[in-house]
Amino acid sequence: MSTPLLKVEGLNAFYGQAHILFDLQLEVGRGEVVALTGRNGAGKSTTLKALMGLLDGTQGRVAFDGCDIARLPSYKRARLGLGFVPEDRRVFTELSVVQNLETGRQPPRPGAPAWTPDALFALFPNLGAMPQRPGGQMSGGEQQMLTIARTLMGNPHLLLLDEPSEGVAPVIVEQMAAMIVKLKQAGMAVLLCEQNLHFARLVSDRAYQLDHGRIVREGGLG
Ligand SMILES: Nc1ncnc2c1ncn2[C@@H]1O[C@H](COP(=O)(O)OP(=O)(O)OP(=O)(O)O)[C@@H](O)[C@H]1O
Ligand SMILES: [Mg+2]
Repeated sequence: MSTPLLKVEGLNAFYGQAHILFDLQLEVGRGEVVALTGRNGAGKSTTLKALMGLLDGTQGRVAFDGCDIARLPSYKRARLGLGFVPEDRRVFTELSVVQNLETGRQPPRPGAPAWTPDALFALFPNLGAMPQRPGGQMSGGEQQMLTIARTLMGNPHLLLLDEPSEGVAPVIVEQMAAMIVKLKQAGMAVLLCEQNLHFARLVSDRAYQLDHGRIVREGGLG
């Protein structure tokens, strides 16, 4: 048995004095797409922020590719191949699509797919159709795709995706789902927060359901 790509044990997270996540246990295998579901305020985004090392006072064990990363600053986690797409999907509004992509470029990482703008344009045909468009002149869904593509330019081993379908037109949601399926085919592992169970079902191998900061269910989405 190989070690999972990500193995989290006893994860507790806080905002100041407020205890938000309670003893989470979860794993993501190599090449696996795993969904973290749960309603508003369940703790999905907090989980991703804690895994990225963005919160003070987080407790627990986080092993990434067999390395203990629980006490590393977030830039070191990124350097090890954790790619994070936060829910606020900020693009550089003055920069073109291609320039936005270039801001995410990192050296190739052994064992991870090596992305180029051309490879990403094949994955995101919408972006390929507007390489010179300024980020500020794109729809919300297109900006969402651009933030994902920009993160892929860092050649991550694991993509942490926060609600890619949120606030996005239905036709873009379908394209987003197709894109995640293709990412999986390219060997990417993804941990994805999602309230939209239809979307989660389309793309994920299995799921963990969060409620009030605890995992209350795990398994297939049926
Ligand atoms: N910066 C913050 N300071 C204090 N409390 C916060 C902060 N961000 C989130 N919370 C609280 O932490 C809990 C979990 O929030 P979180 O954003 O992780 O939920 P979520 O599952 O991502 O919800 P949503 O679906 O709305 O994005 C909620 O009770 C929320 O009010
Ligand atoms: Mg959230």
